[in-house]
Amino acid sequence: MSRRPFIAGNWKMYKTGPQAVETATDLAKLCSGINDPEIMIAPTNLSLPLVAQAIKSSVVKVGAQNLHFQREGAFTGEVSADMIKAAGAEYILIGHSERRQYFGETDTCVCQKIKATLGAGLKPVLCIGETEAQRDEGKTYFILDKQVSDGLKGCGLGELSDLVLAYEPVWAIGTGKTASIDQVGEVHQHLRSLLGRLFSKDLADRTRILYGGSVKPENVKDIMDIEDVDGALVGGASLDADKFIKIIKYNE
Ligand code: 13P
Repeated sequence: MSRRPFIAGNWKMYKTGPQAVETATDLAKLCSGINDPEIMIAPTNLSLPLVAQAIKSSVVKVGAQNLHFQREGAFTGEVSADMIKAAGAEYILIGHSERRQYFGETDTCVCQKIKATLGAGLKPVLCIGETEAQRDEGKTYFILDKQVSDGLKGCGLGELSDLVLAYEPVWAIGTGKTASIDQVGEVHQHLRSLLGRLFSKDLADRTRILYGGSVKPENVKDIMDIEDVDGALVGGASLDADKFIKIIKYNE
């Protein structure tokens, strides 16, 4: 089964609206004519509609980094899936380790956000990953299995056809430490078989599993060559269009 490679940039809390539009516009020009990989950038929610509008005729897609799971209501400071959709996004990152770590997001909350995303007709990128301590204690698979099974609890097989999974070991995010080829390969293979056990072999074969954590132009090719790695979720190195395009063109 061939899966379309996917390179996504998570811009975290970087760039004002005009700065985001400038980088997105530069990137869109550099990406002109590219069919594979699929490309997505996730600016802040404040920049999202500006970026989506600026690059709407390009191949670069836009995603959000977070949402509230309710459709609307008295939730000061929050943004719903419908609002994100109306702003021009196609994807939403859910359960990023920074959300789990600094904002107390639990697997239950992640699951509510997945359902809200699917309900709005958007595509979820479910982010999972173990901390260094959890890996050292031999709990990596226990943690990842829980994040996936609880995060997707109650989701129907038919709803998950656009699900993307992103494995981001917490100890590799923004640290310059990349997981080894063997570590990434083992985890991705494990995750695909887990999806098979939880849902179906067909869904497991179709679901794209991205790696994230210190991906850069220098290591992206080795990472993308790993079996069961279908793409990358890039933080720091996606903030600069000239650098990010080198990651997107990993095959050239
Ligand atoms: P870095 O690429 O900066 O390590 O960040 C990874 C990440 O958190 C993407 O979501």
